[in-house]
Amino acid sequence: MKKLFAVIVALAMMLGCISAFAETTVDTNLTNGTATIKGFGGDITVTVILDGESIKDVIIEGPGETEGIGQKIIDEWPLAFVEYNGIVDTYSGATFAGITRAAVIEAMRQALQNAGVNPDDYMREMEKDEAAGDVTVETDIVVVGAGGAGMTAALTASDAGKSVLLIESQPAVGGNSVKSTGGMNAAKTVYQDANEFGESAGVEKTLKAAEAYSDNEAITALAATVKEQWEAWQADPKGYFDSTELFALDTLIGGKGLNDPELVNTLVNNSAAAIEYLDSIGIHLNNVAAFGGASVKRIHRPVNDEGKVVSVGAYTVPLLEKAVAARDNLALMTNLTATKLLVDESGAVCGLEAATQDGYTVTVKAKAVILATGGFGANLDMVVQYKPDLAGFMTTNAAGIRGQGILMAVEIGADTVDMEQIQIHPTVQADTASLITEGLRGDGAILVNANGERFIDEVGTRDVVSAAEIAQPDSFSWLVVDQKMVDASSVIQGYITRGLMFQGDTYEALANELGIPADAFAATMEKWNGYVADKNDPDFGRTSFAQPLDTAPYYAVKVTAGIHHTMGGLKIDSQTHVLNKEGQIIPGLFAAGEVTGGVHGGNRLGGNAVADFVVFGRIAGQEAADSIK
Ligand code: FUM
Repeated sequence: MKKLFAVIVALAMMLGCISAFAETTVDTNLTNGTATIKGFGGDITVTVILDGESIKDVIIEGPGETEGIGQKIIDEWPLAFVEYNGIVDTYSGATFAGITRAAVIEAMRQALQNAGVNPDDYMREMEKDEAAGDVTVETDIVVVGAGGAGMTAALTASDAGKSVLLIESQPAVGGNSVKSTGGMNAAKTVYQDANEFGESAGVEKTLKAAEAYSDNEAITALAATVKEQWEAWQADPKGYFDSTELFALDTLIGGKGLNDPELVNTLVNNSAAAIEYLDSIGIHLNNVAAFGGASVKRIHRPVNDEGKVVSVGAYTVPLLEKAVAARDNLALMTNLTATKLLVDESGAVCGLEAATQDGYTVTVKAKAVILATGGFGANLDMVVQYKPDLAGFMTTNAAGIRGQGILMAVEIGADTVDMEQIQIHPTVQADTASLITEGLRGDGAILVNANGERFIDEVGTRDVVSAAEIAQPDSFSWLVVDQKMVDASSVIQGYITRGLMFQGDTYEALANELGIPADAFAATMEKWNGYVADKNDPDFGRTSFAQPLDTAPYYAVKVTAGIHHTMGGLKIDSQTHVLNKEGQIIPGLFAAGEVTGGVHGGNRLGGNAVADFVVFGRIAGQEAADSIK
């Protein structure tokens, strides 16, 4: 096994897939220049130290750039700039961290200028490795896609003692997972028990909603069980009320009853163990909150040292990546795109072919392949092919989420399910397509339209909220928070730093900033705060209230609906085997995460994507390992 990994690591270095980190020092006797440019999350400052015409050192500071994305540039580029004695875009051709990259390059150019040299003389191209060529490697398991599902599957298979090669088409790990902000749904966790239960109306509302699905056996059976559990809890209210059945019921109602009930059961029954697994590898999602479509507080979120909520993806992905790097039977190769699955004469998948950026082919011989390539939300042609109504919509998806894994598996006979089920998210920032997390609404934010009026239960499911928003004047809305919410969330503070939010010291002042009627907006806010006090929303039946929006200053961000998640994908069973059109297992082929279909039905609940990738990623890793004799 050691020999294989020596080969893989050597290959990865040859192909430029493994990068190192710079150590920087400052010698003030040398010429230097500094410049500051606005990046993605605040100012980026670059200092360059020259020894004659040679770049001796580079220091890049950009504390506001996103962990796992922009921070990679900040960490990696000082060394690259010194090595190349100039400015080199090691991610050229990729859409990765575009704003941070452009800002660092411009700041570096200005810093060089300030150091007294001509920046044009320091622009460099990445060198193509002429010595590289086509190669073949062998491994027990190859995992395609280093997002949340892929890294979780790779870690699990590696823990089961198998040699694992994890490949990623993009220059960095993370996929859509690194962009996910909200958290992870899980039922019956120790973290839920730390909360006081105040969501009775949410449970009642769900039991009522279940009545509309009297022809759906799974929903009817779950509703009967939840009713009994609920009555028993009310008679003797001990601990926080939730159950795996209520979680399944929410997921099925959220999915309009289209989900595969077996996959939903697998999701909910393994969710608490998934939280424990994450804890065991140092990933702690211990803050529990309300989210759209959940009857009770069930989404688990990370908090920083100050107790402020942080983005789940930016927190989790670097920790998964660190765990991947620590395994000596697990190798990661980035910038390597799987192009074709290989099938042996018995019909079993036995590896794949992949293409390097320089156009070479890497053939991977493997005893099992796990597809974790994500959905197709960044492939707008494919989106429109399955849902023509979405032509012209923005997408929140990462650049690499293009449906490659689905297409490769279909090529060898895999079946798909629910491909036309594509989710739009109602709070996507209208100019930048940045996702504004649903967590804000769960924590108390409201939506108002261009007339300064609410128009929907903001904590309803995404399909319902998006449809209501699209029906408003100009199909957008303002998401409103107050200073109390800002103080509790570094996520919101990030939106402010990035210039996404408008601010006003009074309701009227904020309305003036937004260009909406001040009287109507102030009346809406006063009325809403009254509803929060009464825990009753007679206008739209919202059941999750959190806190009044009564602490100045007030803030609002302009949001509209954008493509967020593709619920359809490869048909799998609950052991994550990929199935063919006859419903049979394709030997050697497993899939987990957004590349699969059936878990979320017609509409995914916020917080269920992270649950999906951890639960099914673990199963895929274990099943693939167990399949190898
Ligand atoms: O709104 C959000 O934070 C999205 C969460 C999710 O899609 O699970």
